[in-house]
Amino acid sequence: ILGTRAKSLKTLAEFRLTNDQLLEVKKRMRTEIQNGLGKKTHDNATVKMWPTYVRSTPDGSEKGDFLALDLGGTNFRVLLVKIRSGKRRTVEMHNKIYAIPMEVMQGTGEELFDHIVQCISDFLDYMGMKNTRLPLGFTFSFPCRQTSLDAGILVTWTKGFKATDCEGEDVVGLLREGIKRREEFDLDVVAVVNDTVGTMMTCAYEEATCEVGLIAGTGSNACYMEEMRNIETVEGDVGRMCVNMEWGAFGDNGCLDDIRTEYDRAVDDLSLNPGKQRYEKMCSGMYLGEIVRNILIDLTKRGFLFRGQISETLKTRGIFETKFLSQIESDRLALLQVRSILQQLGLDSTCDDSIIVKEVCGTVSHRAAQLCGAGMAAVVDKIRENRGLDQMDITVGVDGTLYKLHPHFSGIMHQTVKELAPKCNVTFFLSEDGSGKGAALITAVGCRMREQEES
Ligand code: GLC
Repeated sequence: ILGTRAKSLKTLAEFRLTNDQLLEVKKRMRTEIQNGLGKKTHDNATVKMWPTYVRSTPDGSEKGDFLALDLGGTNFRVLLVKIRSGKRRTVEMHNKIYAIPMEVMQGTGEELFDHIVQCISDFLDYMGMKNTRLPLGFTFSFPCRQTSLDAGILVTWTKGFKATDCEGEDVVGLLREGIKRREEFDLDVVAVVNDTVGTMMTCAYEEATCEVGLIAGTGSNACYMEEMRNIETVEGDVGRMCVNMEWGAFGDNGCLDDIRTEYDRAVDDLSLNPGKQRYEKMCSGMYLGEIVRNILIDLTKRGFLFRGQISETLKTRGIFETKFLSQIESDRLALLQVRSILQQLGLDSTCDDSIIVKEVCGTVSHRAAQLCGAGMAAVVDKIRENRGLDQMDITVGVDGTLYKLHPHFSGIMHQTVKELAPKCNVTFFLSEDGSGKGAALITAVGCRMREQEES
């Protein structure tokens, strides 16, 4: 067995990145950031650095009742968020989770938006609020080209979505049309919000030094407050604006090819969007399990695992969800329990199998956390340089299932940022419910700006 183990470990060696390789990833991310921000380079850039029209973090004066939609994470949710300002700032939230069936995710755009509006209708009935025209913030966690706070053209679907007739369309328009088609209630769509931005705003509401948002969940992405003078794709040089990096697409020009393995390529090739979101496919929850599965298939084929038998289960896409990886890697779990998890998934394992499986999971998630940390190191160092500081303290608001559930991801990611950006003292702040609270905060600011324009 030692021989078998040694051979399978060799397969995993490619996943272990050296410090130099990680520094190189950081450096490349920095180049891509520059390309995304530059007027001449933007069109061909992979990391798009989309402007969000969010020009400041919350100041505590935000208030009102808002509806928020959260599309693009593990669940689809509708939320009612009540924000009270003044001496006692409070945020009260009510929400309902709805399923989006696979047929709807990958059907027509009209079906998708009709389904969304149907869920809103159910929620408004449930809350008894059908007759109020609430302002709404739409957390839509996909790349959008925004021209204002309330207009966002879907550039391309990512993660598991593929509904037709949406790419190239303004998703706020699609939502408004869906609401109109139903003729049952009216809403005032004020803002379209990326989940990273919602997360940053939620964190900034508690902690003013937060100017970065990070999602390590189904997908992987970040946003931060960039100087207007550096965002060449938007008019004006004064102040700051939050940019949605869409860093998941890092590597789509081939710049990460030297560290991608044959398993990464297999996962990419079999995905809904081959060739796209290559960095995301190495770092996020939706794909880590798939990388693991591809390695296990290969090790089985080579006779190192599962007695050389590739079961139907192992052939099934998506079986290793983040929650399973997290369980398998938990330190408190005895190997027997790992075997029982594999059993639940329909995989018969020996004790030796379970050791190898655990090792594979650990290696894949370790690399994911390091890569994510290398990206974040590039971001915080850019902000530090923007401000001409030798040393900087900064807070990053983070959310996402991988960050929250996985036993080691967060720790390794933090450590990597520390090592790769030693001049930044980064505090990570778990900022839950950015998609609800954050969207409502942004909507509140949007309403206030509108009132100012009107008066
Ligand atoms: C994908 C989306 C991005 C989102 C991220 C996390 O990368 O393209 O918009 O922020 O997933 O949900």
